[in-house]
Amino acid sequence: APTVETIESIVGEYLHLEGPLLPILHALQESFGHIPEAAIPVIAQMLNIGRTEVHGVVTFYHDFREAPAGRHVIKLCQAEACQAVGAEAIGARALAKLGVDWHGTTPDGAVTVEPVYCLGLCACGPAALVDGKVVGRVDATKIDAILTEANA
Ligand code: FES
Repeated sequence: APTVETIESIVGEYLHLEGPLLPILHALQESFGHIPEAAIPVIAQMLNIGRTEVHGVVTFYHDFREAPAGRHVIKLCQAEACQAVGAEAIGARALAKLGVDWHGTTPDGAVTVEPVYCLGLCACGPAALVDGKVVGRVDATKIDAILTEANA
């Protein structure tokens, strides 16, 4: 786990900025792959703001993770246009197969599943982002294949 000293030195690099909180969070996530829990009190103290405020910002922006991601990250669009063509059922299928909730990671660390809200691929929904690669028209067969591959 990252040490407080490491976290402090990263936070320290951004203290001169006008609005340092978001750049700090991005830097921490860049370094550790998520925002370590230990970082919250450090940031709060160094920026002289409340822990609740820091935590609120971390949870507000879906880009920030509170736990390390799995080896594969599957993002399934759950916005309106994709929902109209069955994205909800695809999401439910993926979660049931993996036995996790949204934002969850399988216990073996293989897969993290996240909802996203529009990937700009509405015309070929349900849309997904599999390890950063866009996939369109995700039906039951396709999601099963994606999951099988990601679990490998
Ligand atoms: Fe899913 Fe736009 S609503 S890509």
